[in-house]
Amino acid sequence: MEIRRLGATMGAEITGADLNRLTPQEFEAIREAFHAHKVIAIRDQNLTPAAQLAFSRRFGALEDQLNAHYTIDGYPEVLVLSNDIRDGKPVGLVDGGDFWHSDSSHREYPSMATILFAVKNPSTGGDTEFADMAAAFEALTEQMKHRIAGLKGVHAVSKLKNRRVRISARRPDGKDFYERQKAIPDQIWPLVRTHPVTRQKALYLSPRFTIGIEGMAQADADEILDALFEHQIRPEFVYRHKWRDRDLVMWDNRCVIHRATGGYEYPDVRTMHRTVVAGDKPI
Ligand code: SIN
Repeated sequence: MEIRRLGATMGAEITGADLNRLTPQEFEAIREAFHAHKVIAIRDQNLTPAAQLAFSRRFGALEDQLNAHYTIDGYPEVLVLSNDIRDGKPVGLVDGGDFWHSDSSHREYPSMATILFAVKNPSTGGDTEFADMAAAFEALTEQMKHRIAGLKGVHAVSKLKNRRVRISARRPDGKDFYERQKAIPDQIWPLVRTHPVTRQKALYLSPRFTIGIEGMAQADADEILDALFEHQIRPEFVYRHKWRDRDLVMWDNRCVIHRATGGYEYPDVRTMHRTVVAGDKPI
């Protein structure tokens, strides 16, 4: 098994591993690489949904999927992200991850890791961008670090509560879906969290989910949030993953934000299988 750095501050590719038959030592090396590099791309995998689930479960309990009707039959924890259409119906979620975010920061127990297996990539586009929130925190001015110390962000799941995002026109049920989600309670998390394993501090907010700052007037909160949103995706913190078919990419939502960049149109199909490992409450 070989591990090679991909991005400036994070990201690594792993070759020579077969996730269907990992030795305990290889699994530990992958876990270590995940913590060291934050985003890992394990190349050339042949994974059934059952095998992806088995690999994912080695990291912890899995999240259920909010978009339950786009999961694979018999595998409710495997979500299909796809723009493919069969019998006139979408086979998967078309607008997954279209704004910068950390997965499930709107949940009581936000995600630890997301695991995406590339079943089919389009001929152009379909890249995923990742931004390193530990590097972004380190690069803040001392004044800004001091200003946000102790502040907590408000995270909301419904896009209808967030003026910084919009519902994709490609998603037929979008308006009703996000209308129903307005009833889901917001979550409050520190703007800076400490990684439970590496102990690194990282920014923990995103334009997709963070809509305010607890106890602060909206205009004052927006001034801080807009500055942080601009800062956290500066090019030096970003690694852009260009997918190969059969890549399995896994990222650490406790210190990374990400977004799908689009840039492809049906019938050029992109299909991914997604599992998510649940995490702890951010502190
Ligand atoms: C996601 O946000 O989980 C999906 C990202 C992608 O499809 O590139």
